[in-house]
Amino acid sequence: MNQPDLSVEIGGISLKNPVMSASGCYGYGKEYGAFYDVEKLGALVVKGTTLEPREGNPPPRIVETAAGILNSVGLQNPGVEYFINEEIRTFSGSSIPLIVNIAGNLEEEYIRLAEKLDPVKEVSGLEVNISCPNVKKGGMAFGTDVECAHRLVKGVRAVTSKPLIVKLSPNVTDITGVALAAQEAGADALSLINTLLGMAIDIHSRKPVLGNVLGGLSGPAVKPVALRMVWQVSEKVRIPVVGMGGIMTAEDALEFIMAGASAVAVGTANFINPLAIPDIIEGIAGYMIENNIREFKELIGAARKGA
Ligand code: SIN
Repeated sequence: MNQPDLSVEIGGISLKNPVMSASGCYGYGKEYGAFYDVEKLGALVVKGTTLEPREGNPPPRIVETAAGILNSVGLQNPGVEYFINEEIRTFSGSSIPLIVNIAGNLEEEYIRLAEKLDPVKEVSGLEVNISCPNVKKGGMAFGTDVECAHRLVKGVRAVTSKPLIVKLSPNVTDITGVALAAQEAGADALSLINTLLGMAIDIHSRKPVLGNVLGGLSGPAVKPVALRMVWQVSEKVRIPVVGMGGIMTAEDALEFIMAGASAVAVGTANFINPLAIPDIIEGIAGYMIENNIREFKELIGAARKGA
């Protein structure tokens, strides 16, 4: 069999393969250029970008756990102006879609970010982060309330024609309510899950380990929860879902795709294996060849049939 067709479209963004970087775990892409050609990615999703530069939370900001990591970075980033004036240069001439994750404390901040990024031709789409658990105001607060989520996405939708992928929080009782609200407000796609709220305690100092006390858990520990949420959401919405949460291997990625995800994002795995993304792309292609599947799209939601 010839090379299978791995292409897929996510809310108007054409991807040559379904594997993208998860925001915050891949810098601005150039950090991984020493290991392989970043143009291999389906799409590059960059770190959460805010209106103003942010220093982030006090250290320690990362803790290893038994099967993942807790982070409380607090959206450290150089701000949207720096991103547009400096970082963006790295992407001119790139052939892969660049998706910018936008975050803020206030609804107006998201709207201004979308306005600023709308004319930037290098940007293929916006990932609207309504799920960061590490900021005192905004972030996850928008993604845990159906009405707030709806209002915010509607506001952003009104000021940009770029495709919007809304990133959902798992820290809710029913993720489908927020998913439907985002769709109804004009989202072109959804991405899920962001991290699960957690913490660690140092028994010697008898204090929380993270400087910010609470953090977000990612890595293999969250995979079954993320997979369940992708299954539940893709059953309810008509827009594409990007699945993420503990994807370490091609087998993990295929589970998300068979649950209904049209694409996947890889985060924590990059810290353990810098080649995780190309390995996963190759693994998906290998699975398709072994199983005589020509088009990747045939695999989307494959486990739903008859379930
Ligand atoms: C952070 O910067 O604290 C993490 C971002 C996120 O979880 O969205």
